[in-house]
Amino acid sequence: MKLAFALVLALYLGLFSTALCRNISSRPSIVNIGAVFAFNSTIGRVMNVAIDAAVDDVNSDPSVLKGSKLVVTKSDTNCDGFLGTIEVLQFMETDIVAVVGPQCSTIAHIISYIANELHVPLLSFATDPTLSSIQFPFFVRSTQNDLFQMTAIAEMVDYYQWRQVIAIYVDDEYGRNGIAALGDELAERRCKISYKAVFSPVATPSDILDLLVSVALMESRIIVLHANPTFGKIVFSVANRLKMMGNGYVWIATDWLSSFLDTYSPLPSETMNNMQGVLTLRQHTADTKMKSALVSNWKMLTKKYSNAVFGLNAYGLYAYDAVWAVAKALDAFFDDGGVISFSNDTRLKEANGSNLHLEALSIFDGGNLLRDEIRKINFTGVTGQFQFDSDGFLIHPAYDIINIIGSGSRIIGYWSNYSGLSVVPPETLYSKPSNHSLANNQLHSVIWPGETTEKPRGWSFPYNAKELRIGVPNRVGFREFVSKDPTTNTVKGYCIDVFTSAVALLPYAVPYKFIPFGNGHQNPNYYELVNMVALNVFDAVVGDIAIVTNRTKLVDYTQPYIESGLVVLAPVKKRTSNAWAFLQPFKLGMWCITALSFFIVGAVIWILEHRINDDFRGPPKKQLVTIFWFSFSTLFFAHRENTVSTLGRAVLLIWLFVVLIIQSSYTASLTSILTVQQLSSPIKGIYSLIAGDEPIGFQVGSFAENYMVEELGISRSRLKPLGSPQEYANALELGPENGGVAAVVDERPYIELFLAKECRFSIIGSEFTKSGWGFVFPRDSPLAVDMSTAILRLSENGDLQRIHDKWLTNEVCRSETNEIDSERLHLSSFWGLFLICGVACFVALAIHFFIMLRRFIRHTPPDDSEPSVGGLSRSGRSIKKFFSFVDEREEEPKRRSTQRQAQRPTSNVVVDIES
Ligand SMILES: *[C@@H]1O[C@H](CO)[C@@H](O)[C@H](O)[C@H]1NC(C)=O
Ligand SMILES: *[C@@H]1O[C@H](CO)[C@@H](O)[C@H](O)[C@H]1NC(C)=O
Ligand SMILES: *[C@@H]1O[C@H](CO)[C@@H](O)[C@H](O)[C@H]1NC(C)=O
Ligand SMILES: *[C@@H]1O[C@H](CO)[C@@H](O)[C@H](O)[C@H]1NC(C)=O
Ligand SMILES: *[C@@H]1O[C@H](CO)[C@@H](O)[C@H](O)[C@H]1NC(C)=O
Ligand SMILES: *[C@@H]1O[C@H](CO)[C@@H](O)[C@H](O)[C@H]1NC(C)=O
Ligand SMILES: *[C@@H]1O[C@H](CO)[C@@H](O)[C@H](O)[C@H]1NC(C)=O
Repeated sequence: MKLAFALVLALYLGLFSTALCRNISSRPSIVNIGAVFAFNSTIGRVMNVAIDAAVDDVNSDPSVLKGSKLVVTKSDTNCDGFLGTIEVLQFMETDIVAVVGPQCSTIAHIISYIANELHVPLLSFATDPTLSSIQFPFFVRSTQNDLFQMTAIAEMVDYYQWRQVIAIYVDDEYGRNGIAALGDELAERRCKISYKAVFSPVATPSDILDLLVSVALMESRIIVLHANPTFGKIVFSVANRLKMMGNGYVWIATDWLSSFLDTYSPLPSETMNNMQGVLTLRQHTADTKMKSALVSNWKMLTKKYSNAVFGLNAYGLYAYDAVWAVAKALDAFFDDGGVISFSNDTRLKEANGSNLHLEALSIFDGGNLLRDEIRKINFTGVTGQFQFDSDGFLIHPAYDIINIIGSGSRIIGYWSNYSGLSVVPPETLYSKPSNHSLANNQLHSVIWPGETTEKPRGWSFPYNAKELRIGVPNRVGFREFVSKDPTTNTVKGYCIDVFTSAVALLPYAVPYKFIPFGNGHQNPNYYELVNMVALNVFDAVVGDIAIVTNRTKLVDYTQPYIESGLVVLAPVKKRTSNAWAFLQPFKLGMWCITALSFFIVGAVIWILEHRINDDFRGPPKKQLVTIFWFSFSTLFFAHRENTVSTLGRAVLLIWLFVVLIIQSSYTASLTSILTVQQLSSPIKGIYSLIAGDEPIGFQVGSFAENYMVEELGISRSRLKPLGSPQEYANALELGPENGGVAAVVDERPYIELFLAKECRFSIIGSEFTKSGWGFVFPRDSPLAVDMSTAILRLSENGDLQRIHDKWLTNEVCRSETNEIDSERLHLSSFWGLFLICGVACFVALAIHFFIMLRRFIRHTPPDDSEPSVGGLSRSGRSIKKFFSFVDEREEEPKRRSTQRQAQRPTSNVVVDIES
């Protein structure tokens, strides 16, 4: 790098064929520089002394300019554009190589054009961020750019979580461009300047009074004052008179105030009283030995050079260093072979006829080289390390943040471009990695205007609007949410209760009045209602306002206070259990397999048992009956036949277990079929609804209409507006065939309220959108943020649920008679069983009597000879005989069995003994 630089240098020298000997001989005995500033200003007075002191120090140090003497010519521009320009032009006629100053941004803009033409570097103290070294290559800012000061203010505003500030400033380059930078920096942190209060550079105190009255009417209470000491003092005294220096206000003054305080302190107590609690910034300079030497000599220096005593401010320090920078740059300039020579400006020759003698202005031939030397300067001065970065900014921009308390001030922290707000001086942070995160930012506590340490809220209700005008939808259907009471003309409902409870939690009083919106015959259009806030007809809207994208573009929402989302409501039919419900638990296959298993198990047991078990013996017909009887009686664990073989018992045991499982499953399934409500609807959810072509209902005014058309692609002709719960019920009842609707799409809270009274309908599927309801405030309203916090607190302490329970209910279909009804079982579910049983009885009886009749006929042949006795006909006698036959035959097996028992008493005993 150095080698390349030397090469370029050698080339440069070679090209201009300047002999090396010129190195020494080119140093003149006197080098003229200029100084341009407003002599009678706060900064100018200090600069005057600092420049003189620096020039003397340079001239008394032989190592700097090595014999050449620095001579400074001063010019008073007085910050006046016209006079300043003339002054500067006049003294540019004397051959000067560099200018220290100007201090005024207005003058700096004008002089920069002249410096560009004449190649004279300006070491300016103008802080206007728009003065760039790209447009003005000879403009070198030897103080901090206001861009950084405004960044510091924006970071403070962000740190204290304020969102809007009011800027009061002078309408000149300094004020306007500084505040423009503040606006940019605030916007980066999602804050903004809500009002720009601007006064003219020739404003009178009464103008300022009018201005501050308009500021007081604003909502924001954060005021950034970017002015100069003359106006600043007036602003503070007027503000104090208007009680704007009291509780709730925050004043942030830019560095003009710290310079003023540093220069003239101690100030009269009256002036200090006007600015208690004000925050101001000061360009941060490191505490070095050189700085403390200058500070300790300062009193003597002011007496020596200006015959007065005043303090040293940051601009004085930068002015002192600027002179040294020029001297060191000139030294390097001479070292690098620069010569001080001037040439006539050909462009000015045409003006030779005028009496102004502008042709006397000449171009400094070495201007470019000197400017480059200044840009490359690197030394430690009274302001710390004095060095420019590649963009022409002084390195390490940093500010002290000062709180004015009592008769003095206190540093509450620092801001540096390197690591944001901190309570330790920035020098200690430069060695650590840069950490700009908000969490890392820290400031000491502040005593705010009104002598409070509590951080001001930053805004208040504007004086001009006495009460918040709160729009409230005047609902027609679902009046529980919010509606106007026609008798008392007040609004009430769930949403109103939530709002009043939330407002009660705010740490300050909010005056408001509700204004119903809607014609009372139809629910209002919610989009229009919300738009009223954007149009400033209402200051807020309270009601069942869904948070949807369409509206978030217009307004700010609070946190949702109730969950919502669109659902499909459709009529459902209870699937009634019919007479053959007892067959439903098993499918046909199951019934068949179960029946088959009974036969198989019966047969298996018979095979295993019949050789050793008397119960399974007998005539084949009887054995067949035993098989069936045995296997089916296991169904009820009522089999009487003993199983004696081990294998038979094993099979039976397993079979009984299978039967147990089948039986209990059947019972459970049948129970649920008979007692649990089975609901059914042809619509299965939103997607089956979209696919169909039946009409769909929606609530008048709801966003559901647009949502279905735009997001779901449902044709608008299918949508049918419905105004009230009654209309919902009617339209659903009628069904799509009769001019009703197949389903209603609406938000869950409404539907839940609807279902609390209506049992014939149900929500189909789940919510297909997720959202919530919130209150509406204008964009960036600070009240919206506080209301959100209050709503979250309501939710956390359970009040939100209590309000919900008071107005709405979560139960679905509360009708009591219905509930009991649904648990009782009707005959209709069972008549099939009774029928089967009845038929079985009848068939059994019929077969029985048929057999009896056959036997009767066989045993008693017809007796024709017997005459009729006692009035009984012949057939009558036959019936009598038949019944006595039945009676007789019934007794016969009994008699026979007792005979049998009597015949073989011994065998019976043997069996008993055996068993
Ligand atoms: C200097 O400014 C003060 C006010 O700050 C004023 O009273 C005084 O007249 C001014 N002097 C000159 C010479 O302009
Ligand atoms: C000019 O002279 C100085 C000493 O006075 C010397 O350090 C420097 O290198 C010289 N420069 C050139 C270009 O000869
Ligand atoms: C510059 O112009 C002045 C007259 O205005 C003249 O006297 C002088 O010789 C000129 N210098 C050069 C280098 O042309
Ligand atoms: C100066 O102006 C006069 C006329 O006013 C003109 O004749 C003369 O050429 C001009 N001189 C130069 C150097 O342009
Ligand atoms: C400037 O000087 C300091 C020491 O005074 C040194 O640490 C730093 O590297 C120098 N910067 C440049 C760019 O030369
Ligand atoms: C200020 O900080 C920004 C970002 O941290 C950085 O890009 C910029 O170079 C810094 N400027 C100076 C003069 O240090
Ligand atoms: C929002 O919806 C309304 C209808 O409710 C419509 O008129 C308006 O154009 C929509 N706005 C945007 C930004 O989509």
